[in-house]
Amino acid sequence: MSEDRIDHPPEHEKVALVTGASSGIGRAIARQLVKEGFRVALVARQAERLDEVAGELQALGGEVLPLVQDLTEFDRLAGLVETIEQKLGPLSVLVNNAGMGYTGSLVETSVSDWQRVLTLNLTAPFALTREVLGPMRARRRGTIVNMVSIAAQRAFPDWGAYCASKSGLLAFSRTLAQEVRNDGIRVSAICPGSVDTALWDSDLVNANFDRTRMLQADTVAQLVLMTVTLPESAVLEEAVLMPGFGAF
Ligand SMILES: NC(=O)c1ccc[n+]([C@@H]2O[C@H](COP(=O)([O-])OP(=O)(O)OC[C@H]3O[C@@H](n4cnc5c(N)ncnc54)[C@H](OP(=O)(O)O)[C@@H]3O)[C@@H](O)[C@H]2O)c1
Repeated sequence: MSEDRIDHPPEHEKVALVTGASSGIGRAIARQLVKEGFRVALVARQAERLDEVAGELQALGGEVLPLVQDLTEFDRLAGLVETIEQKLGPLSVLVNNAGMGYTGSLVETSVSDWQRVLTLNLTAPFALTREVLGPMRARRRGTIVNMVSIAAQRAFPDWGAYCASKSGLLAFSRTLAQEVRNDGIRVSAICPGSVDTALWDSDLVNANFDRTRMLQADTVAQLVLMTVTLPESAVLEEAVLMPGFGAF
């Protein structure tokens, strides 16, 4: 580490982008980053839910920027990052959190459903990361957190498309970490077990797990906050966070 390097982003670079910030884990991460003094860009598709979260975070005294964007519209992502840097300042944290659940045996999964899951859970984080890497490299500072899942490491029957998307995201995360570590950029893969969020209410998810035994979104967010606020001379490369009561 060079002598003039400080171990945390300076105040004007305490800017984070959280995808999927309108619900569940992303919402909890945004809240904890705001409490830590980050200015936070919040991305999701549904304006109403996003505005509600923005209001909640502003009431905590946070400076937030709600941005309605479908992350699978890849040609709009460069503009998204530009807007954030113009309005909030240089981005030092990207949390690739938005994602979808999907259940169905592989034989019953259509190619279009397979593609839909991989497009959001794997290709969107890749496409968005490409847009932040240039500015982060130029500043030699940045932390990229990828919200993976225990499904990247274990096979669950009827979760084939989801497991494939998250295994791909873990491989992406590991490769990126190696490619950019000499550029001053840290990359982390967080692999939670089941978390009690709206993901389990989706029509696309048919699973009958005991929600009271799942992790809380705030607990996952706590780990993300720790990952982001570690001294920059250290990186949490991977973490598996499981519910403590024997549930997945
Ligand atoms: N819940 C779990 O058990 C669990 C476990 C391990 C990992 N994870 C991962 O954690 C992440 C967050 O999941 P969650 O449980 O918090 O789910 P959630 O409550 O359903 O939240 C998903 C978020 O992603 C946004 N989103 C969905 N599609 C989008 C798109 N095309 N463009 C932009 N935003 C989009 C949603 O907002 P809009 O619908 O308004 O776009 C919402 O804000 C996911 O990557 C998930 O795979 C979850």
